[in-house]
Amino acid sequence: MTFQELKARNAGRNFDQIVVVVKDIFDEMAELRRIYGAAPGDVRTVTCTTDDGVEFTEKRATYFYINTSLCVIEPVSGETVYKKFLDKHGEGIACVRERIAPDKFDAEEARYASKGFAPVQKITKDCCKKSWFEMDDLGILFEIISDDSEKITPSYVIQDKIQQINITTPDVYDTIAKIVDRMEIGPFELGAQTPSALRDWGFREDGVIKKVDDFKFIIAIIPCGNIEWEVIQPVTGPLVYNDFIKRRGIGYHHILLEVACANWDKTFETYAANNIELACFGKLGPVDWCYFDTEEQIKFYTEMRTDAVMDKLPDGYFIGWYPEEN
Ligand SMILES: [Fe+2]
Repeated sequence: MTFQELKARNAGRNFDQIVVVVKDIFDEMAELRRIYGAAPGDVRTVTCTTDDGVEFTEKRATYFYINTSLCVIEPVSGETVYKKFLDKHGEGIACVRERIAPDKFDAEEARYASKGFAPVQKITKDCCKKSWFEMDDLGILFEIISDDSEKITPSYVIQDKIQQINITTPDVYDTIAKIVDRMEIGPFELGAQTPSALRDWGFREDGVIKKVDDFKFIIAIIPCGNIEWEVIQPVTGPLVYNDFIKRRGIGYHHILLEVACANWDKTFETYAANNIELACFGKLGPVDWCYFDTEEQIKFYTEMRTDAVMDKLPDGYFIGWYPEEN
C-alpha cells in the first residue's frame, strides 16, 4: 500500500482489546489496582472449544478504557494460543485485537493467509467469530473479531485512554515494513530521540537516574483509528528496551497512558508513593514523557506523556516517512 492508501485505511479502525497473559490473574488485578488505581469492568471464567476441538478454560479480567480495553488472561487448561504464548515468551502483552465489519471478515482472514499467516486458532460460534494469527518474527499474536460478535457490557469504564501500543524491535525498518504489509497499519513517521532532539532527560543506570551524554533510539509512530501504533529500536544508551530485546528479541513492550499537563507532577508523586521506579524521562518539543518500571509488577512497562499538542517537531528529530509520501 502507498502512503495515501494507508492514510485512507486508518480511518475508523478499531483495535478494541490488548491482551496481557499472566500466571496469576489475582496478583495482576491487585497490582493494577495498586499501581493504576484501575478496577475491571468484567471478570469471568470462560470455558469454550476452538474450531479445532481444543477445549479450554481461562480466567479473564477486562479493564475498559474510553477507547479500548486491557484484558488480563490466565490460561487454566487447554493448549490455546495464549497458553502457548505464555510457555514460549513468559508473562506480558501478547495480543492486539481488531474489530472487522462482518461482511469483510472472511476476506481479511484470507488476506492474512495470503501473507503466510493462516489462523493458528479460530472460534466460530453463534455468539462470536474470531481468528488469531501468530507472527513469530514480530514476537506477537494478532486477533481479528467479527464486529457482530457479542459484546460485553462493562460494569465500569475507566475515564482514561490507552493512547498507544508499542512494539520494541532490534530493527525498526524491518518491523514497520512487516506491519505495513500485513496489518496495513501506516504510514509511519520515523524520528530519532537523541541529545540534540530531546530536553531535560534522565535515564536510570545502575539504579540511579543520570543525565547520560549519549543515547539514541529510533521511533516510528502512526495514530491508526482508536490507538497509536509505535515501533522502537534502541540504538545506544541505558534504555528501558535493552533487557527486553535481550530476553524476548521483539514484541509488545509497553502501553502509554496520557495525562493532563496539570496532573503531571501528581503522577510522579503517586508512582513514587507506590514504590514504582521511574525508568527514564524527557521532553520532546512541548510534550513531557516518562516510563515507569512496572514490568515486575504488571509484566509490561508503562509509558506516560502529557496531552500537550505537538505543534512542531523539534529540529534534528524527524527522519522520514515509511512508506515515503506520494
Ligand atoms: Fe511508547
